[in-house]
Amino acid sequence: MNVADVLRWGAEVRRDLPWRQTRDPWRILVSELMLQQTQVARVIPKYHGFLDMFPTASDCAEGSAADVVKLWAGLGYNRRAINLHRCAVQIVNDHGGSVPSTLPELLSLAGIGPYTARAVLAFAFEADVAVVDTNVARVLARQAGTTFTAKEVQACADERAPLGDGWAWNQSLLDLGATVCTKRNPACGECPVAQTCQWRGDGPDPAVGSAGVSGKQSTFAGSDRQGRGRLVDKLRVEPVAEIDLADVMGWPDEPDRAARVAAGVIADGLAVTQKGVLRLPS
Ligand code: ADE
Repeated sequence: MNVADVLRWGAEVRRDLPWRQTRDPWRILVSELMLQQTQVARVIPKYHGFLDMFPTASDCAEGSAADVVKLWAGLGYNRRAINLHRCAVQIVNDHGGSVPSTLPELLSLAGIGPYTARAVLAFAFEADVAVVDTNVARVLARQAGTTFTAKEVQACADERAPLGDGWAWNQSLLDLGATVCTKRNPACGECPVAQTCQWRGDGPDPAVGSAGVSGKQSTFAGSDRQGRGRLVDKLRVEPVAEIDLADVMGWPDEPDRAARVAAGVIADGLAVTQKGVLRLPS
């Protein structure tokens, strides 16, 4: 894969997204947490809304976890909201209010894994690290014609990241995967690196089952996750009595299931319970 071809394509075609117009580490951190499991179009309005309310980590830390969960409405995977609030508190308590700029420090923040830590390094601090999300992992596996292990895919990405162009390289590769080298129906005719691709849409896809490439999304309807979502949606509006849990979660005939899933919501810090009533944490 030719570096210059990717960078040229990126400079011309890469999307002009709000988090690409800033190097503010807090803004980048917020965007990357939101983007982890939610599509760009859904993230954009939430990104602006969140940062209008909490423009700095200190502002967020001073707010309540409940405020963060309320602002998270519509993004799903609400645990990320709790983690973001915890991150803000850690950043204030341990780092004087500034997002840290080293990999070990970033990895020690709540809910920050190898992907998000490297994304903050690359996109806020313009460090020459290789960011591997599901889109990048797919591009790399197809280019190599190999189904990678987790170690191999990061090593492959590290090998390719050009010195001095970490920001543009990673943003471009992310977009190449998100918009051209898509999971289904990749547009190989529009790909700037089709020449070096070992797969080129022909035969079994090496990205299927390769490390870092997301598999099938599990069905949402009828899942525990749906019940969790319904409970948190209701808690955003008002407290919920334990006796109403099964109804609120849409499982009127499954009180045991409702109680078990609600216990998970509490364990994750998304709700507190007092005298038989659940509410968002303060
Ligand atoms: N997904 C994760 N990070 C992203 C970014 N910086 N731009 C677009 N999509 C992303």
